[in-house]
Amino acid sequence: MELTVAMLLILLNLASWCVLSEGRLLVDMTLVSDASSIGAFCLDGSLPAYHLHRGFGDGASNWLLQFEGGGWCNDIQSCLDRAKTKHGSSLYMNKLEDFNGILSNDASLNPDFYNWNRVKLRYCDGGSFSGDAKFDNGTSVLYFRGQKIWEAIILDLLPKGLGNADKALLSGCSAGGLSSFLQCENFYRALPTNTSVKCLSDAGFFLDERDITLNYTMRTFFENLVSLQGIEKNLDKNCTSFLDNPKLCMFPQYFLNYMTTPFFILNTAYDVYQFHHALVPPSADMNGDWKRCKLSIASCTPQQLDILQGWSLLWHQPSWIFSLVFSYYII
Ligand SMILES: *[C@@H]1O[C@H](CO)[C@@H](O)[C@H](O)[C@H]1NC(C)=O
Ligand SMILES: *[C@@H]1O[C@H](CO)[C@@H](O)[C@H](O)[C@H]1NC(C)=O
Ligand SMILES: *[C@@H]1O[C@H](CO)[C@@H](O)[C@H](O)[C@H]1NC(C)=O
Ligand SMILES: *[C@@H]1O[C@H](CO)[C@@H](O)[C@H](O)[C@H]1NC(C)=O
Repeated sequence: MELTVAMLLILLNLASWCVLSEGRLLVDMTLVSDASSIGAFCLDGSLPAYHLHRGFGDGASNWLLQFEGGGWCNDIQSCLDRAKTKHGSSLYMNKLEDFNGILSNDASLNPDFYNWNRVKLRYCDGGSFSGDAKFDNGTSVLYFRGQKIWEAIILDLLPKGLGNADKALLSGCSAGGLSSFLQCENFYRALPTNTSVKCLSDAGFFLDERDITLNYTMRTFFENLVSLQGIEKNLDKNCTSFLDNPKLCMFPQYFLNYMTTPFFILNTAYDVYQFHHALVPPSADMNGDWKRCKLSIASCTPQQLDILQGWSLLWHQPSWIFSLVFSYYII
């Protein structure tokens, strides 16, 4: 019995490996050459980039844009470090990008979007495509121009067919899922009124909640990010005019109710990033009591499981469910 299961697993692994290796789709990078005219640069001053794979058949006039994810940098040192990586400079990006998952062109793996025009927006600003500032102290320069990068890529794609799209979907995962929240209304505004525009966030619903020592670790992190990268002026205006602390409008929970574009939210209640960095950040676990639990849920104590359960219930706040229900549309 166990042997059969093991063999089945091996076969499944083999099968998926074959599909992946046969169906591997590598897509060339496009540098946005006009980006410099609006001051859109990666952290290090290099040009921003995207990868476009053209649609075909009945998907030829539909567009799927996906924000790349990859955390944030919220102080000068971490941004200087990031500027020397593929998440801060197009000089270090792989020029061929593997299009899989929702970007795949294989109908059996990606039945809904395989023949759409599919675009991956490379992430090199460290501020979820929302900043607009510059650091220059005479010896070091950093460009916090995520908002400009977003605008430059849209301007580049509009004449390539995005401007005549029938359906358009903006998506992203993690920090890219947050970008999808932050830019969704702008995406809607950038497209003709007869285009069907929707947005999707995968693991981008970052919560403004206290960690296990009752410290607002994630809030402090985002406040520093918003300040450093000049993000506040690009946040939802209804939200920033309503809240005493406008920087909190970086958190989707505060501006979700002002969004009018159909939005699909996908987020696990036990999101590993938020468990490890928001609920139990290293600063809240100096003794390492959570180390084993973080490595494997099966090693958590009953008390730790209770805390995790409580965290997952935060997602069930009535006001959010209300807006979530009204935001759920199928493409
Ligand atoms: C500029 O900032 C960098 C990074 O913080 C620092 O190493 C450097 O000494 C600063 N230069 C000046 C002139 O203050
Ligand atoms: C939207 O309207 C324009 C102008 O009337 C038209 O050319 C275009 O085909 C329409 N697009 C869709 C998706 O209906
Ligand atoms: C609370 O979080 C901030 C920001 O991460 C940190 O600087 C501070 O030391 C933390 N305080 C406690 C008591 O853990
Ligand atoms: C946002 O604010 C504008 C003007 O202040 C208002 O017209 C609009 O209805 C508000 N939107 C929502 C969704 O509350």
